[in-house]
Amino acid sequence: MKFSLGLLVLLACGATFVVADQDYEGYRIYEVTPSNAEQASILHQLSAEGFDFIGQSRLLGQPSRVIVSPGQLDKFLQLVKDHKMIHSLFNSNLGASIAEEFVQLQMQRLMNPITGKGRLSNERYYSHEEIINYIDDLAQRYPKRVYVKTVGWSYEKRVLKTITITNGDGKFGKKLIFMDGGFHAREWISPAAVLYVIDQLVENFQENAYLLEDYDWVILPLVNADGYEHTQTGTLARMWRKTRQPYNYLGQTCYGADPNRNFDFHWNEEGASSNPCSDTYAGPNAFSEPEAVVVRDLMHSLSDRGIMYLTIHSYGNYLLYPWGWTSDLPDNWQDLDAVASTGAEAIKNATGTVYTYGSSTNVLYIAAGASDDYGYYAGFNVSITMELPGAGSIGFNPPVTRIEEFVTETWIGIRAMAEKLFELY
Ligand code: ARG
Ligand code: ZN
Repeated sequence: MKFSLGLLVLLACGATFVVADQDYEGYRIYEVTPSNAEQASILHQLSAEGFDFIGQSRLLGQPSRVIVSPGQLDKFLQLVKDHKMIHSLFNSNLGASIAEEFVQLQMQRLMNPITGKGRLSNERYYSHEEIINYIDDLAQRYPKRVYVKTVGWSYEKRVLKTITITNGDGKFGKKLIFMDGGFHAREWISPAAVLYVIDQLVENFQENAYLLEDYDWVILPLVNADGYEHTQTGTLARMWRKTRQPYNYLGQTCYGADPNRNFDFHWNEEGASSNPCSDTYAGPNAFSEPEAVVVRDLMHSLSDRGIMYLTIHSYGNYLLYPWGWTSDLPDNWQDLDAVASTGAEAIKNATGTVYTYGSSTNVLYIAAGASDDYGYYAGFNVSITMELPGAGSIGFNPPVTRIEEFVTETWIGIRAMAEKLFELY
């Protein structure tokens, strides 16, 4: 068995963490395509009942991926049969797919830990601690251009820090772009892409100084630090999405709320769940999650200078703008559309990757209480959720050999969106 072999190797090189003995053995991924409103509502219902939808559009005619555990299989198959839903098996054993990749990732981390010295390579994914070390080191090495600030703590008391990047001209009160990554724990490529943006703005300053002329950039590379660390503790945890605050539900404990359903703007109205065991749990009340509070407070403290809020997720190749709680469009939707389409166009020209852009509700699905809607409501002129492409056996697990390609492509899109923003605001 490949996985036990990997485990032995890990222990042999001095691992202190424990790889969970459970894994996704026997779990499957199905693609389901709703072709009418009734079928679409069944998918919503399944999601509320604890089925885990990944990288999904729940729009008619578009396939949606759902993870089905061995215990859920009969129910799921019966349902798709009863409702004559188009479905196909995408991955017949998630456990096997995750285990191998997971062990490789942990190996790389152990052999090459980042203590906070110099540039990061795009050859692996980093831990919360490594990310913090990295930005602290940048602040030390570039004290004139970089400023790191503690902005709060996660539920499990991990420190959350922003890095503010300037051109060092000492001018205060510039317009700014606020960007974050790692809202959803399993979307490892998100913090990776955000770290690359930091690298480009700081270490590749000569080339990118023009992006810092009239704007400062404030970046929170990892919002959901607890969830992210959790996904790196073992294979069963790899697909974790939410935060890690425990909640009781009918005598059992379910962990976390979806931080991207926890914001107090049309909170829990649509596309979110009130069930603590659901992956889209909105929380017992808005801002129950300290991580969402941190982002909210940052938004309010930055919004008078804040022109764009950009939040990086995966996967699905989308550039989404408000609203996500209604199909209505904001007043300046044409500006939002211009920024998003510029990003999509730049990426397409550079690599051929196709992004879909539009309002969240209209091109993906309705979901209220997300950070993009809140940022726009809080005063950012432009607010965008960028869903990077999927890769790997699941979609959330681009192999480390593809990080470089993904993050450089993402940077091309972000840079182009910033340029467009500068024209407009
Ligand atoms: N995949 C993201 C999520 O489900 C998309 C959020 C889009 N924004 C929105 N307001 N619905 O959290
Ligand atoms: Zn996400």
